[in-house]
Amino acid sequence: MKRIGVFTSGGDSPGMNACIRAVVRTAVYHGLEVYGIHRGYKGMIQGEIYRMDSHSVSNIIQKGGTILRSARSKEFMTPEGRKKAYDQLQQHGIEGLVAIGGDGTFTGANIFFEEYGIPTVGAPGTIDNDLFGTDYTIGYDTAVNTALDAIDKIRDTADSHDRVFFIEVMGRDSGYIAIPCAIGGGAEIVMIPETETSIDYVVDTLRTGWNRSKTSFIVIVAEGDDAGNATQVAAQVQHELPHMDARVTILGHVQRGGSPTAADRMLASQLGIACVEGLIGGHKCEMAGIINGELTYTPFIETITKDKLINPQYVKMVDILSV
Ligand code: F6P
Repeated sequence: MKRIGVFTSGGDSPGMNACIRAVVRTAVYHGLEVYGIHRGYKGMIQGEIYRMDSHSVSNIIQKGGTILRSARSKEFMTPEGRKKAYDQLQQHGIEGLVAIGGDGTFTGANIFFEEYGIPTVGAPGTIDNDLFGTDYTIGYDTAVNTALDAIDKIRDTADSHDRVFFIEVMGRDSGYIAIPCAIGGGAEIVMIPETETSIDYVVDTLRTGWNRSKTSFIVIVAEGDDAGNATQVAAQVQHELPHMDARVTILGHVQRGGSPTAADRMLASQLGIACVEGLIGGHKCEMAGIINGELTYTPFIETITKDKLINPQYVKMVDILSV
């Protein structure tokens, strides 16, 4: 293999730049030519493909976002779109890819490999930490710390005004962000998609706390919780507890930005190297990850289809610690 491409795709995450840097520098180190593909699969289809060298990634390790930009491409989901993308790669002589993204990115890479045999090694870049095959994804640690910082501030005002705050964190299908935010933020309740949430339980817990003279409360709601988002949950609870003063804060995309933490820079650098060395070593359709401190390569199909379960004990911990 002489020439590889690197791209970021799906929701961006802090540490993607550190990963791009590691991919480019590792390629240069091993004598490969490297091309940056802008805007993920969308840019691949449109031929937004540019040569990179070690200077192209100077001064980016500390930056949030992605210098390669990101997109979610509907066209790549069609056979016609993938054919266009393949033709572009052929024109540029690209023989292997490094994909930095989440499950949508790896689903695309998997089909692309089946159809055109382009080997891809992936790095898990998503704040959601919901990918099987790695203990942590790039950006997760930063996102949790960003959210926690905001929750600490909300706690101050909740306390001053005797209020209950419903704070929504990201996680369409996963409570991985919600759990450390709830435990680290001293929340009374956490609501995550992985466990069935009962509004009656939420109401009872708040009522019991109130009767025990607690005056302010934090409820962390993962955006994809089965009982609804934070706004919907707050409305249901407020209806049952009209004497409580409820407010909703949606942390939203603030969780996706910012300078990556040391842990994310380290992970991104390790996995960026692993992607390029994986391609050189003949890995084809796999995601690099770290499990229990060990570098592993997990087939894309497993990262997409297998669930990374949350230990239910964490939900219990929130209960115990908020008594
Ligand atoms: O996949 C990462 C993520 O941040 C999810 O947690 C969230 O549901 C989604 O992306 C938001 O996507 P968008 O940026 O397209 O609004």
